[in-house]
Order: sequence, then C-alpha cells, then structure tokens
Amino acid sequence: MPDMVICGKMFVEGALQYAEVAVDDGKISAVAKHIPGGDERIELGSSKTVLPGFIDPHVHLRDPGMTQKEDFSTGTLSALCGGVTCILDMPNTKPPVTDLETLMDKKRMVKGRSYVDYGFFAALSPGARINLLAPHVPAFKLFMGSTTGNILLNDDAEIAPLMEQIAATGLPLSVHGEDDAMISKEPEKCNRDHLRNRPVAAEFSCIDRLSRYPGVRVNICHTTNAEQVERAKAAGFTTEVTMHHLLFNADRNPDAFCKVNPPLRDEPTRVGLFESFRQGRIDMFGSDHAPHTVSEKEQEYGSAPGGIPGVETTIPIALDLVRSGVISMKQIVAMGSFNAASVFNLNKGSITEGKDADFAIYDFRDVREIDVRRLHSKCGWSPYGGMRAVFPDMVITGGRVALEDGEPCGEPAGRDIRG
Ligand code: DOR
Ligand code: ZN
Ligand code: ZN
Repeated sequence: MPDMVICGKMFVEGALQYAEVAVDDGKISAVAKHIPGGDERIELGSSKTVLPGFIDPHVHLRDPGMTQKEDFSTGTLSALCGGVTCILDMPNTKPPVTDLETLMDKKRMVKGRSYVDYGFFAALSPGARINLLAPHVPAFKLFMGSTTGNILLNDDAEIAPLMEQIAATGLPLSVHGEDDAMISKEPEKCNRDHLRNRPVAAEFSCIDRLSRYPGVRVNICHTTNAEQVERAKAAGFTTEVTMHHLLFNADRNPDAFCKVNPPLRDEPTRVGLFESFRQGRIDMFGSDHAPHTVSEKEQEYGSAPGGIPGVETTIPIALDLVRSGVISMKQIVAMGSFNAASVFNLNKGSITEGKDADFAIYDFRDVREIDVRRLHSKCGWSPYGGMRAVFPDMVITGGRVALEDGEPCGEPAGRDIRG
C-alpha cells in the first residue's frame, strides 16, 4: 500500500490530465490513471491543478551573516508559500562560501531549519579547491561584476585555471555576467544613473569571454535583454530571467527599492526581453531573491544596496500570466521546474516515477492581489504589492504536506540535495 496517493488533474507527460500518483518514502512510486489504496488518499476536486514543485535556482537567503535581511527559516518559508519546493542558495553570505570549511559550517548551521529542499553554490575565488567542493554542491557561481558581498572575480588570468577544473567536474557554473571593468563608478542618484553605469555591453563582454571555455556548462543569471539571451544561446549557455527584469523598467521607482544588479533597463529593452520570454527563448526563472531591509533601501540611492525579493512571488505571478493566456502552462512548468532540474541535476522537475514527491497544487479560480503584509520574507517589503497572482493551495515536499489551505503546516523538513 503506498504511503500516499494523490488524485486529480495534474501536469503529466507534458499536458494537464487526470491521473493518480503514488508516493513512497518521499518519492513518486507510480503514476497511472487509477491507483488503489494509499495510507493517505488526497482526492482533489476538478477545480485543483497539481504541478511539479517549483525550483528556484537563484536565491540569496543571507544566512549566515546578514540575518537581519533574511534567514534560512524565513527565506525557505517564503519559498514554500510561493510554491517553490527546492531552492539553490547563493554563496555571497558571510563569510563567503569559497572553501570547504565555510561550506560545511553553513550546512551545519541551517540543518533542520529549511521548509524546502536546498542546495548551496560555492563561489569561484583565486585558488579555490574545486575538487574538494564539487561533491557537496549542485553548481558553482562566478561573480564577474561587483554587487552585494565581496567575491568579485573578473580577471581572465585568475578565471582560466578554475574553468579547467570546473569543466572536469561536469557541474554547471551560474554567472553574474556584468564585466566589472565596463561598469562605471560615477555617482548615482536614481535607477537611470545606475542603468547608465551598468550597460548591456558589460553583459555581452562576459558572454564573449566565457565562450573561451567550451567545456564548462555556463548558466547566465538574470538576463536583461533579448540580445544577451540570443548571444548566450549561440554560445551554448543556459539562461535565467527574473520577474523584475520582465515586468519593470528603470522608471519604476524614484527611490532605491528597485535598485538591483544588473539594473532594470529602459522600456524598449524590457519589452524585448519579455518577447524573448514569450517566445520560449529563456530556459529558467531564477528569482534572484535578494532581500535587504526597508531601512537599508531607504538610504540615499548611492549608498543603498541592490536587490529585490522575489522567491515567493515569481511563480504566482507567472501562473497568473498562464491564467490570462499570455504564456502556456507547459512553458511555466519548463522554466520553473523541469529545466532547472535538468540543468542542476536534481531528481525533481516532473511528475514521473522515481522523482522526488514535490508538488504544488493550485485553484486557478483563486486569483489574488499580492498583499505585501502576507508575504513571509523577513525583509518586509516587495515591489509586487497589488499585482495579480495565483498562490498554491497545497504544497507537498518529499511526500509530506507542508502547506494546506494556503497556510504552511508542520515542521521544517527540507533536505540538502547534496547532503
Ligand atoms: O542586485 C543584486 N543583489 N544582484 C546580485 O547579484 C546580488 C544581490 C544581492 O545579494 O543582494
Ligand atoms: Zn547576480
Ligand atoms: Zn543573485
């Protein structure tokens, strides 16, 4: 008898159809038209839709070292409430994750505090011991442009030897691809100044430079424009996009709340990016959830940190785009789950026998305007307030109901996917 059987309309083999899925020991043990029994049997009505749990391959949960902005509990709770059942956390925590000891300390510190499954990036730094780090991470991260944290690495002579070692591991390399040498340090008073200082040419330069290492599986984070997407694809790289670059332009806010790296672009550039997205040219959503406190963001533009929270809102907003017919369900499932699982070698991303039993379940009649007070990030603000979104009704992680009737339930049970 399976531990659990879930019955309802679900996204199976590329389409929404009625199916029943059996779960044993946290994994999907069968998918069929009818599966009898189940210690727990979840019969969903026809108004519910079961999707594979979403994966966010790009979050900054700030733990350890900057837990006034976010910590692992609040950040992963925020993920869970946004339908995300696995996050990959960036290495610009304090101290930065560039060596094995720091990585293992970070793993010990967050153990037992995560509401969803998680993995940690290690950052490239001069002389990093790639072979020691590789067994414990799903991927590496390279910051070629300066931003929060101090792990910039933009010197080809230092990057090249590391790239050989990365290629040998076969692991992907997510890149913050803004060439720091092309970023102007002129004073900034608004998003327009920030945009002027950080041109798309700095993004193109990184793609050119990284194409010298054909053995490395490069993933370009937070693409901001259509040409960058095409250049990345031509180089054989995968790509991510954030909701803020898709929806907002540089005139969005007069203050620093929408200061972010890479910057919000002008409206024609944003529209071009959205068109790339609509045409299915971008592989994955990566929220680049980068929480900073309200008081940090209220500083003068020049001193305020860059970053926008988004782990809880990215998929709900994307699903509203499905509901309103802008984009297909198939594409959102691919960009939000399937492709990330395949790029980062996660046993997730589809409702298929043998995969982890992670599901996000929705009632598409329940469209809500985002209420910032009801989000779970510690940072306490979001630029998405008032926007329409479809939040999950139920979330199952590793075969356990972790969110029911829209509310989180139970203890944090997320696991390290490279633990
Ligand atoms: O705006 C950003 N904020 N871009 C990044 O690449 C890092 C992030 C952060 O950690 O705050
Ligand atoms: Zn980045
Ligand atoms: Zn980031």
